[in-house]
Amino acid sequence: MLFMKIKRTLITEQEIERKIKEYGKLISREYEGKNLLLIGILKGSFVFMADLCRAIDIPVRVDFLSASSYYSGISSSGEVKIKLDISQERDLSDTHVIIAEDIIDTGRTLKDISQLLNQRNPLSLKVVTLLDKPSRRAVNFNADWSLFTIPDVFVVGFGLDYDENYRNLPYIAELE
Ligand code: IMP
Ligand code: MG
Repeated sequence: MLFMKIKRTLITEQEIERKIKEYGKLISREYEGKNLLLIGILKGSFVFMADLCRAIDIPVRVDFLSASSYYSGISSSGEVKIKLDISQERDLSDTHVIIAEDIIDTGRTLKDISQLLNQRNPLSLKVVTLLDKPSRRAVNFNADWSLFTIPDVFVVGFGLDYDENYRNLPYIAELE
């Protein structure tokens, strides 16, 4: 009984949709007339990416990168490894880049990924995250745009998983 473990809905489908549309507009205005590449961090960002790129009304390219932190159960820690790189691996010097992530927890993953992508000389590099748990931060890292700030609870849905399950929930839920 997989879905029995959900305690409550934290953020509804409608709330998420509204926020993504708002940030899509904001990003569109900021990057109007500029070369823009959205990089989603797999797998968690895939649902957010799909909605965010459709909320952007200027030309935009999308790519994905898969990284893994040594991560077990519900606490993440340790070093980040790139498992799957973007297709334009070496040189990003002709484009502005926005990294899209599902959630920033300790901040380790995105701090490392940002450093790595910065070495490829993008015109600019910013980070947008659907969720932010600032109370859990272990390193000095913040997103440029956080759509929702949440308390220190373990959440699933809208791309976020527990043991690879619940990614397909269309809202954000708190687990038991
Ligand atoms: P960190 O910011 O490096 O600690 O790691 C962020 C990653 O940890 C995210 O991309 C998620 O995969 C995972 N994570 C952190 N908190 C949660 C949560 O509440 N639910 C599901 N995954 C989480
Ligand atoms: Mg993730």
